[in-house]
Amino acid sequence: MTQKLRLGVNIDHVATIRNARGGPHPDPLRAAIMAAEAGADGITAHLREDRRHITDADIDRLTAALAIPLNLEMAATEEMLAIALAHRPHAACIVPERREERTTEGGLDAAGQFDHLAPFVARLGAAGVRVSLFIEPDPRQIEAAIRLKVPVVEFHTGAYAYLEGEARTGELRRITDGAALAAKNGIEPHAGHGLTYDNVGPIAAIPQLAELNIGHFLIGEAIFIGLDASVRRMREAMDAAR
Ligand code: PXP
Repeated sequence: MTQKLRLGVNIDHVATIRNARGGPHPDPLRAAIMAAEAGADGITAHLREDRRHITDADIDRLTAALAIPLNLEMAATEEMLAIALAHRPHAACIVPERREERTTEGGLDAAGQFDHLAPFVARLGAAGVRVSLFIEPDPRQIEAAIRLKVPVVEFHTGAYAYLEGEARTGELRRITDGAALAAKNGIEPHAGHGLTYDNVGPIAAIPQLAELNIGHFLIGEAIFIGLDASVRRMREAMDAAR
């Protein structure tokens, strides 16, 4: 039987809108609570080095108040490690980060940065945090994740989301094969980036995938139909594909 596919709602862009004016509104914690009521299984937040959306105070409030698991996205830096160890979120997803990028462009080079990543994986794991690596669905990166002994990988679905036609089909095949390879080696595969109601179906249908993390589209759609309906509709689209 195919297991339930969890939905992690990324609330970063509620903070993006709040920060445009500098006050407390709209509140990412309120959005997280509402997303949970609408069926989100977890909340994801990316504390970026430049604090362009989520802030340290948001992470404090989310860890104190959330009733569902928090997945902290973080770069592999000493600063972020110290914050993660102080808060011990349910999960931490290590992502590549470049100041000049608009969003997380491409996956982590787990193979090339093996020696840099190994102590981060070990220290987070020892603190009881479920560590995930945000990687491309590339066998070389999955092999590195296996050697790093992470319990979870998250596949970057950005290329799938933005490509069309045969190129998209090829990318879907890479994600499908990657999920099978990860699962065969005892790693729980997740996926995310650029997912929408229109493109989530084929990804949600991949049987080994256990979780999707979705943010920008859901927050944007909430402008038109409200956050509750936005999250519920995604949940329905995922369940229908399963
Ligand atoms: N997963 C990871 C690791 C991400 O970095 C992001 C984007 O911040 C997402 C999922 C969600 O992507 P989107 O906002 O495009 O849905």
